[in-house]
Amino acid sequence: MTTQRSTDRQHKPVTLLGLGPMGMALAETLVQRGHPLTVWNRSPEKAGGLVAKGARLARTAAEAVAASPVTLVCLTDYDTMHKVLEPAAEALRGRCLVNLNSGTPAEAHAAVAWSGERGVRYLDGAVMVPPPMVGEPGAVFLYSGSRDVFEELLEPLTNLGDPRYLGEDPGLAVLYNTAMLDMMYTTLNGWLHATALVGSAGVPAQRFAELALGWFMPTVVDYAALARQAPDLDAGHYPGTLNTLEMNLNALDHITRASQEQGIHSDHPRLMKEIAERAVAEGRGGQNYLAVYELFKKATPRP
Ligand SMILES: NC(=O)c1ccc[n+]([C@@H]2O[C@H](COP(=O)([O-])OP(=O)(O)OC[C@H]3O[C@@H](n4cnc5c(N)ncnc54)[C@H](OP(=O)(O)O)[C@@H]3O)[C@@H](O)[C@H]2O)c1
Repeated sequence: MTTQRSTDRQHKPVTLLGLGPMGMALAETLVQRGHPLTVWNRSPEKAGGLVAKGARLARTAAEAVAASPVTLVCLTDYDTMHKVLEPAAEALRGRCLVNLNSGTPAEAHAAVAWSGERGVRYLDGAVMVPPPMVGEPGAVFLYSGSRDVFEELLEPLTNLGDPRYLGEDPGLAVLYNTAMLDMMYTTLNGWLHATALVGSAGVPAQRFAELALGWFMPTVVDYAALARQAPDLDAGHYPGTLNTLEMNLNALDHITRASQEQGIHSDHPRLMKEIAERAVAEGRGGQNYLAVYELFKKATPRP
C-alpha cells in the first residue's frame, strides 16, 4: 500500500479509452510503469487482466475521463473517437486529450476544432510500432499540435516510447504516419511482386530472399545513399550522370513484359512504367530516376 501511494505521487494518473490490440499494449505498459490507470472499452470484459494488475475499469467513457488529468484515446479511427467522446465532452473540459488512432491530417484538424469548441486541450499522435514493441527500446510515437500539452505530458508519453514532437501543425503526426506506411506497403509490394516473378519459374521465396533481401536491397538500393540524396529532392536537382530516366524506363518495360510473359500480375510494374513515361513526356528523360518525385508532388491528372 505504501509503495502504491509513492508510485501514485510519482506518476501522472492516465485514462485510456480503447482496448484493442494497441490499446491493450498501451495499458499494460502504463500499468507496468506505475501510472494509476483508468480504462474504458466498449467490450468491458477485455479489461479483466488489467484490473487484476491494478487498473480501474470505468463504466462509461465520461466516468473514465473524469478520473485523470489526461485521456489517451486508441480506438479504430477518428469517427469512433468522436462517437465515444461526444457524451464525455463535459467531463473532458479543461483536461488533456491525446489521440493515438490512425487517420488523415484533415481528421486531425477536425479533432482540434472539436476539442477547441469544448475547452479540451488536444494533442494529436500516431503509433509507429506494432503492439509488442510499445514501451520497448526503438518504439517511436509521433506527436503534433500543442507543444504545451506535449511538454506537460512528457513523462507518460516517454513511458510508451520515444516521443517525437513534429510541430504545431496538428496534422503532422498522422501525415508522417501515413507517409511511412506508404513507404512500408510500397516496399512490401516490391518484395512480394519480385518474389512472385521468380516464383513463376519455381524459385522458392526462401531461396530468393538470400540474394534479394540479404544482398540486393542493402547494397544496391541502399537506404543510406537515399538519405544522402535527400537534399537533391529538396533542390529539384536530378543530374543524369550515372543513370537517366530513359534508361530506367527501359528496365520498367522489361519488368512489365516479363511479368506478362510469366503469367503473373502486371499492374504494379505497368503503373511504375506509366509514371516514368509521364516524367519523360515532361522532358525529364535525361535526368536521373529521382526526377519522378516531381510527378509525385502533383495531383494525379484525371482524363
Ligand atoms: N495494431 C497495430 O499494429 C497498430 C499499429 C499502429 C497503430 N495502430 C492504430 O491504433 C488504433 C487502434 O488499433 P487496434 O489495433 O487497437 O485495433 P482496432 O480494431 O483498430 O481498434 C479497436 C478498438 O476500437 C474500439 N471500437 C471499434 N469500433 C467501436 C465503436 N463503434 N464504438 C466504440 N468502440 C469501438 C474497440 O472496442 P471493442 O474492443 O469493444 O471492439 C477497440 O477498443 C487504430 O487506429 C490503428 O490504426 C494499430
